[in-house]
Amino acid sequence: MTRVTVVGAGFVGMTCAQRLAEKELAEEVVLIDIIEGRPQGIALDLNQAAAVEGYQCRIVGTNDPKDTYGSEVVIMTAGLPRKPGMDRSDLLEVNGKIINAVADYVKNGSPEAKVIVVSNPLDTMVYLMAAKLGFDKNRVVGMAGALDSARMSYFISDKQGGGIADIRCMVLGGHGDSMVPMPAFSTVDGVSITALLAEDQIEAINQRTKKGGGEIVALLKTGSAYYAPSSGAVAMAKAILRDEKRLVPCAGFLSGQYGLDDIFMGVPCVLGANGVERIIELELSEADMALLQKSAEAIRTDLGLLREKNLL
Ligand code: 2OP
Repeated sequence: MTRVTVVGAGFVGMTCAQRLAEKELAEEVVLIDIIEGRPQGIALDLNQAAAVEGYQCRIVGTNDPKDTYGSEVVIMTAGLPRKPGMDRSDLLEVNGKIINAVADYVKNGSPEAKVIVVSNPLDTMVYLMAAKLGFDKNRVVGMAGALDSARMSYFISDKQGGGIADIRCMVLGGHGDSMVPMPAFSTVDGVSITALLAEDQIEAINQRTKKGGGEIVALLKTGSAYYAPSSGAVAMAKAILRDEKRLVPCAGFLSGQYGLDDIFMGVPCVLGANGVERIIELELSEADMALLQKSAEAIRTDLGLLREKNLL
């Protein structure tokens, strides 16, 4: 039996559970949270929805880590979301403590799992998760590029007035203000957007992409985005569960690629049954390479703060 665990029954977690169930990606989806009743209530609701939607998947809501044991994939969404005006790094300490607690039971109970981290600040939390788990680094990956690229795709389709299905984007670097949209590697049916849109249009798309999460936080006033984040996370889980070997921008562990070492950061990754099976090194312009290095510095600053607080 394939079991997938979603940690955190907030909006991202519950929509992850829904998408996993509707796509029948596992026989059992376990939704775990520390709040009593919430995961159980959501599970009950989703199990009842199956009668109408027709999906074959059992959803278990629980507060007990033992129910997650033996998971093939764990999607970590638990943590506080940003409030308007907050930076993702403001969540470092509180979410770092949550990662520590979850890593403990995933390590013991699901030693074979591939772990997808969604909690913010993403690049730091995925590093922390990997450090605490001690798993091979290819089995731990952060979800950010899949989301940031989806946002960029939408902004391109919005500008063009065209269909979104043919658009594929590449956004690399950290999942923060220093993220690096890559117009040259972003295409509409194979044609780079640099050949389709004016420079100022591309610049506007880049800027909106970089602030894509904050734009939604400001509109919602409480909480942050969850539909596109859960889509990104579940697409990654699917690539792993079905061994799809899909090329997805996500936060993989770098050991020399792009001149960077001992850091998780958004790069093009091939996802399959073993997690991150390959990292693709794109030929980047000097300017883009410099932006990636700057993004890595921002992540290292956050990692330093985590160490100062003895969380890493
Ligand atoms: C976002 O960008 C939650 O970080 C996530 O919306």
